[in-house]
Amino acid sequence: MPARILDGTKIAHDIRSEVAAEVKAMAAAGVRPGLAVVLVGHNPASEIYVRGKVKACEEVGLYSEQHTPPETATTAELLTLVEDLNRRDEIDGILVQLPLPPQVDSKRVLMAVDPAKDVDGFHPVNVGFLSTQRPGLVPCTPAGVIEILKRSGIPIAGQEAVVVGRSDIVGKPAAMLLINANATVTVCHSKTHDLPGVCRRADILVAAIGRAGMITRDFVKPGATVIDVGMNKVTEPAEFQRLFARGLADNAKREETFHAKGWTLVGDVHPQVAEVAGALTPVPGGVGPLTIAMLMYNTVKAAKLRRFSG
Ligand code: GUN
Repeated sequence: MPARILDGTKIAHDIRSEVAAEVKAMAAAGVRPGLAVVLVGHNPASEIYVRGKVKACEEVGLYSEQHTPPETATTAELLTLVEDLNRRDEIDGILVQLPLPPQVDSKRVLMAVDPAKDVDGFHPVNVGFLSTQRPGLVPCTPAGVIEILKRSGIPIAGQEAVVVGRSDIVGKPAAMLLINANATVTVCHSKTHDLPGVCRRADILVAAIGRAGMITRDFVKPGATVIDVGMNKVTEPAEFQRLFARGLADNAKREETFHAKGWTLVGDVHPQVAEVAGALTPVPGGVGPLTIAMLMYNTVKAAKLRRFSG
């Protein structure tokens, strides 16, 4: 039986509706949470992401503003901008879109964001809150992974979870959230011995490596839940063939768009995993939409924590 497809677009829509309802209730109390997005230079992928974030703010009723310093911006200039946003009371969330240009000290800029406004959850104070299970702001993509599992009725407590990838943005916080939800967690990376064997232990397999279709069916225990965090642009016809060999289900539409556009978006999980897994997030339409939904959620959470508590 092919895997159950976990519809991230639907779950993200539900979360955005819940956030919109909260924003409406806050408006009645005279509060409108606000998000400031900082987009440095003209990275095309970042421009697309930021457009999506600003549009989502409009849809759920949040105030948002965009700051677009030039590609040549210095660390000092960005620190001044962040400090100004930290001081402004109507700004509840600050998001500095990554990557920053090479001349900028990214860690210093991210450290300058007030932890109470750090809607990305990247500041070491929020990393510490997460690791010690205190209330704080949790990175959006890993938080989205947990929402998909919970809202799909997939149990986490007591399950074997394997996270492939140890980035600060996805792998490490995803592992921490799974530990906090009482899973037994293994984190794998490029130096892991027998990666397929370790992955096959997983009841829940989270792929966050950044390599198209790397998780093939031999990595997956039959019936496991596979969460694909990857977003890779495939442009090579040979690579396309490896992933979407003719004759498999759903491939006709992929072929059409690949030939029309010259690329297609592929996760870290090989499409054939759908024949082994019990449940699987698609790419696109899986974890991706959750990232923006959780950013909206975090902005409202930051507003509530900062304005209404302690
Ligand atoms: N660039 C890619 N993903 C992210 C993210 O989650 N947050 C920020 N700020 N930049 C990113």
